[in-house]
Amino acid sequence: MSKRFAIGIDLGGTSVKYALIDNEGVFHFEGRIPSMADVSAEAVIGQLLFAVEEVKKYAAAHQYELCGIGIGTPGIVDETNRIVLGGAENIKGWENLPLADRIEEVAQLPVQLGNDANLMGLGETMYGAGKGARNVVFITVGTGIGGAVVIDGKLFNGFANRGTELGHVPLIADGEPCACGSVGCLEHYASTSALVRRFKQRAEERGITFSEEVNGELIVKLYKAGDALATECLDEHCRFLGHGIGGFINIFSPQLVVIGGGLSEAGDFYIRKVSEQAFRYAIVDCAVNTRIIAACLGNKAGSLGAASLFLN
Ligand code: BGC
Repeated sequence: MSKRFAIGIDLGGTSVKYALIDNEGVFHFEGRIPSMADVSAEAVIGQLLFAVEEVKKYAAAHQYELCGIGIGTPGIVDETNRIVLGGAENIKGWENLPLADRIEEVAQLPVQLGNDANLMGLGETMYGAGKGARNVVFITVGTGIGGAVVIDGKLFNGFANRGTELGHVPLIADGEPCACGSVGCLEHYASTSALVRRFKQRAEERGITFSEEVNGELIVKLYKAGDALATECLDEHCRFLGHGIGGFINIFSPQLVVIGGGLSEAGDFYIRKVSEQAFRYAIVDCAVNTRIIAACLGNKAGSLGAASLFLN
C-alpha cells in the first residue's frame, strides 16, 4: 500500500501543535506556535492557517501529496465535524464557528474537526498507551479536563457528536461554579488549574510565598521534596480525580483508563495515587479488568488523532 500523508493539528489554549504525519503514524515534520487564544478567534484562525502553510511548504518540497487536514479543538464539535458549537472556555469567541470552511477556503484541502481530547484518546488508543485494547477511557488533565471513550475499538461520541465531556461530569452537588456554566464539575476540582488555584489560595492564607511561578510542575517538585502544602493539595487532587475515574469505571468497565496531560508525566507515584483513589470508589466487579496507566505519546497524541481522521 502506498503511503498517505495528512496534516494533524492540536489546538490548545496555549499553543497550536502541528505535524505532517503518514498512515503508519510517522511524523515527518512538526511545529508549535502560540495559539493566541486570549486575543480573538480571528487571531487563532490566523495561527492555524500559518501552521497549515508551514506544513504545505514542507510537503511540497518533499513531494508528499496531502489528503487533508485534521484539527482537534477544545469544545463541542457538531455532527458534521465542521463547526465548533462552543464549550472551549479558554479560547475567546470560539463559538458557532464554521472552522472547517474557514480553513478549507484558504488551504484548498479537505478539513475535518474533532474535539481535542477525543482525538488524543484516539491517537493513544491507535498508536500509544491504549494500543491493543478495545475498551478505553482516556482523560487529559491540564487547564481543563477532556475525555474520550473508545468502545469495541471505536470512538463513542454520544448522539450527534455532543457527548463524552468527561471533565464536566458533576462531581459535587451545589459545588463551585465551573467555566462551562454549571457547578461542581470534575474539571473545576481536578484539573491542573484547580490544583494550582487551591495551592495558591492556601499558600496565601498561610502567608507562604514563592519566588518561582506556581504551576503543576512546581507543586510536583515540592511534593517530591516532602513539602506539607504540596502534599495536602496533591493528595486532594488525586482524591477528586480518582472519584471521577471511579465513576467512569462503573459506567464503562474499560480495560484501560489512560491519563494524559502534564501531571501524568510526573512519575509513577502520580498514577499510583490516582489509582488508589479510583479503585476505592469503583465497584470491584466493574473494576476487575481495569488498569489505570499514563499516556505515552505526550504532545503527539492530539495531532496523530487529528491526522488519523484522514489516514484511517
Ligand atoms: C473542554 C473540552 C476539552 C477539554 C480539554 C474542557 O474545558 O470543555 O471540550 O476537551 O477542556 O481541552
